[in-house]
Amino acid sequence: MNAQPVEPIEPAAHTGFESVADVIDQFTDQGYLADERLATTVFLQAHLDKPVLLEGPAGVGKTQLAKSLAAVTGRKLLRLQCYEGQDETTALYEWDYGRQLLYTQLMREKIGSLVADTPDLASAVDAIAAEESAFFSERFLAPRPLLEAIRSEEPVVLLIDEVDRADEALEAVLLELLAEYQVSVPELGTFTAVHLPYVILTSNNSRDLSAALKRRCLHLFLDYPDAERELEIIRSKKTGLADELARQLVDIVRGLRELDLRKAPSISETVDWARTLAVLGAEELTAETLSATANVVVKYDRDLKRTLEALPRLVDPNADLDQDHEHGHGHGHSHGDHSHENGKQNGHANGQEIGQGEPDGAAVRRSKDLPGRHDEAYYGTGSMGPARKVSADQGARAFASRRRPF
Ligand SMILES: Nc1ncnc2c1ncn2[C@@H]1O[C@H](COP(=O)(O)OP(=O)(O)OP(=O)(O)O)[C@@H](O)[C@H]1O
Ligand SMILES: [Mg+2]
Repeated sequence: MNAQPVEPIEPAAHTGFESVADVIDQFTDQGYLADERLATTVFLQAHLDKPVLLEGPAGVGKTQLAKSLAAVTGRKLLRLQCYEGQDETTALYEWDYGRQLLYTQLMREKIGSLVADTPDLASAVDAIAAEESAFFSERFLAPRPLLEAIRSEEPVVLLIDEVDRADEALEAVLLELLAEYQVSVPELGTFTAVHLPYVILTSNNSRDLSAALKRRCLHLFLDYPDAERELEIIRSKKTGLADELARQLVDIVRGLRELDLRKAPSISETVDWARTLAVLGAEELTAETLSATANVVVKYDRDLKRTLEALPRLVDPNADLDQDHEHGHGHGHSHGDHSHENGKQNGHANGQEIGQGEPDGAAVRRSKDLPGRHDEAYYGTGSMGPARKVSADQGARAFASRRRPF
């Protein structure tokens, strides 16, 4: 085996971030609006040389953070998109079989002369084996994102996206990389990072990640932004929607997120909705205009039904009360239609009972800025469903020993 000399890990280089506020400023310049917690995590990552693990619902800017970090620092972005059944050959490296075969063909005569004088098959195999290292050398190595990040001559940002989709076996491969910033290739030795990459892992929480992986990372749960930040993001995207309407829209989307939807609308969907309404020349947000365009933000039929039901109440929190008065029932929240149920759920979820006379919409809006207010349904069953068990079979697949072409 030709062991590769191990290069020493460079001490933490100058990070380019002077303070948390500086992180916020530099990201804002690149169009990414980071809050204090997120900016602190990035600041610490740069100073402690630790990977960051971002967990959270779809569309809250996890992937975008890595892209923006690359833009801010002027580093190249290397991305490993994870999926079920993925093995090391797409994550770490594989041997370039086509190239090895081509060389073998072209050197047929040379190889023939190597074995010409051998008396039997066993000694012919021995003669070829003695030359094996020529075929398992760096020339025939096809690095994939993880090894590429370690070997890169330039500092890079390494994005390991949606790591929860990969099998647990791949996590084990990541551990060596994240702890030591090194990758072992049995035939060549150990490659150690010349420049420490900024590593960002993202997860949609479709399964629990191992404690060992979490321990190696700065962990941050990225939730939907508060109303003010989401409004700022919409402003920064120059959607063309008047500010007052954008503010109203943000409130309405936040109301939709409180419904039991399979896929709650994300930031990018709020932005799309704002653009749609601007293009249609909306001058006010009525339940009709919003219902006609709700398919921009809601992608499942069942969700659409719930959205259409809820929109009148979200546009005008007093609509239900008015309805009650018109109907003359006078029994407030007790008749249990769908929209009332939601109002009650939200009230209970935040430990607030909604009084008989109080318009529940106002309470719901107030409650949206409380942390830790969501149950599981908040994240949509699609992306945040129950933890998926990884079968032994899947693990074995990802761990399948690297195939050698010869
Ligand atoms: N803080 C932010 N500042 C500016 N834009 C943002 C911010 N957060 C999200 N966005 C916008 O939302 C879009 C969706 O974000 P992104 O693709 O990063 O989400 P995600 O969390 O990776 O979602 P998924 O889990 O579905 O991959 C981005 O393209 C970006 O335009
Ligand atoms: Mg993403």
